[in-house]
Amino acid sequence: MCGIVGHIGSNNSVEKVLEGLKRLEYRGYDSAGVCFKDQSGELSLYKKTGKLVNLTNLLKNIDYGSSSSSVGHTRWATHGAVNDINSHPHLYKNLAIVHNGIIENADELKKDLVAKGFKFKSETDTEVFLGLLSFELEQEKDLLKATSSAFKKIKGSSAFVIQSKDSDGIITVKNGAPLVCGVNEILGEAMVSSDPYALMGFVEKIFFPDDDVICFLKKGEINFYDLDGTPSNRYLAKDLETNFEATTKGQFEHYMLKEIYEQPALIRNLVDNYFKDIDLNLEKPKRLHIVGCGTAFYAGMVVGQIWEKRLKIPVSMELASEFRYKDPLLLPGDLAIFISQSGETADTLAAQKLCKDRGIKTFSIVNVEGSSLFRAVDQNFLIHAGQEIGVASTKAFTQQVLTGRIICEAFADNKDFSSLKQKFSLLSHRIDELLNKAELFKDIASKIYNFGGFFFTGRGIYYPVALEGALKLKEIAYVHAEGYAAGELKHGPIALIDERMVNIAIVGPELFEKTLSNIQEVKARKGVIIGIGPEVSELRNICDLFIPLTFEGLEELSPLYVNVANQLLSYHIAKHKGTDIDRPRNLAKSVTVE
Ligand code: M6R
Repeated sequence: MCGIVGHIGSNNSVEKVLEGLKRLEYRGYDSAGVCFKDQSGELSLYKKTGKLVNLTNLLKNIDYGSSSSSVGHTRWATHGAVNDINSHPHLYKNLAIVHNGIIENADELKKDLVAKGFKFKSETDTEVFLGLLSFELEQEKDLLKATSSAFKKIKGSSAFVIQSKDSDGIITVKNGAPLVCGVNEILGEAMVSSDPYALMGFVEKIFFPDDDVICFLKKGEINFYDLDGTPSNRYLAKDLETNFEATTKGQFEHYMLKEIYEQPALIRNLVDNYFKDIDLNLEKPKRLHIVGCGTAFYAGMVVGQIWEKRLKIPVSMELASEFRYKDPLLLPGDLAIFISQSGETADTLAAQKLCKDRGIKTFSIVNVEGSSLFRAVDQNFLIHAGQEIGVASTKAFTQQVLTGRIICEAFADNKDFSSLKQKFSLLSHRIDELLNKAELFKDIASKIYNFGGFFFTGRGIYYPVALEGALKLKEIAYVHAEGYAAGELKHGPIALIDERMVNIAIVGPELFEKTLSNIQEVKARKGVIIGIGPEVSELRNICDLFIPLTFEGLEELSPLYVNVANQLLSYHIAKHKGTDIDRPRNLAKSVTVE
């Protein structure tokens, strides 16, 4: 989940790597570091615990302007504490490396290296690869060959960028972790990174190497090799727009808030993107499996309910981390949908591979074009959410559900999208109205942020957004929050209800009376009720605080509308808590380890 960047070319290499790291900081922010070749050709290393700003402060008085080759890293710690020593790059003799991933057989390899006399400085698994590489280099005397030999010895998913004092290029290789290289022939530069976003504006052509392809980056060129040293064509090449404007927060205090407010416009764009002819390369399935993690999984729960009702086929909703190890029952005629914002989530990718290996057709609902998931499936449906920078996923959820809704209609063989189109417009309009009620959310948040715990409850189509609401609140406000099916509270969790507990009760038109009774049960035990539902007195009167919504006409899309209310509430509670909303502690945006 770390971010890695490498650059070779003209001067100002470090500046380009630092800009790349800034764009990748969503991948981890435990520490950051950079290593560059200085004027005398020596490797200079700087690294610092904490966010990137600590590294840039450290570099303030360092003259790195003439450097034309550098590697950088932003860390999400896996092996070893968060400290300067465990930060990347790691340097040994003439070699510096940055790493994203996990070396699963690190302990075993470490014993061998220690026995051979390698002195470890850090607690990281990364240094194991550095040790292997340096021993291989002593024997092979060739960096490409040494990289290949060392890489063959490690297990797990990893991507590395390697810089050597003695080489006129930088080398990169990966297996199961995201990596993209890019070249700018005019300026004579080449770059590598964990995400194309870090390369935008710097290079004009990008290459996604397959696993086990070594990329040798030189000024203005990249050569690809298989692990046996022969030239390789196992990569996907794409042109990249060079006019790039980095995403900014604009008038908003946080990316998360900006992304919440982008939703109505994105919904309207989705209509433009999809409500034409939808090319389906796939047959209508007999059964459907929907797989994802976190917010993407909850989006899948909403999509699954819609597909089951509309297409009358059995749908199973699966957490990728469970699905991949449960030896799932997969039958001929099954189809598997993988939902992911990043397209790089390790568990989701492994689950997709399992389906593919078992002969099941797969498709994605994904945001990042060219991502590993995008390249692995039989068909892709892009959600067109734009770059999502806030670690807490917001607009991606909405776009994932809506994309799933559209594809469902295509599978139903309905060529007339007019009524669905109207529903989408209505949804964007209602969300716009809700976003104009910021004061209501601020007010409620100010009254409840200090309570002891939060239960989000809902039934039927609102159950997944109760789960998603609780996830959002806990990840950005660091408070204990749970999502529950409203009818389940009395089977245990109700024991927790007292005057310190808040129930965010989602009440839609579906199962209205039943959900109302569940609220009464909480109220009777002195729980504080924040109602989200239609403006009717039976509901408003039992709520301590109330968020009125207009559900008419939205039907199966109404959970998305409710979810925006949850997003705003979580955001404003987190603001009161004073947390780091865009980069919450312990998290990373793209979870590329299992
Ligand atoms: O990139 P993905 O959609 O595959 O990521 C899945 C989850 O890691 C992600 O949704 C996570 O739960 C977010 N932090 C939620 O806000």
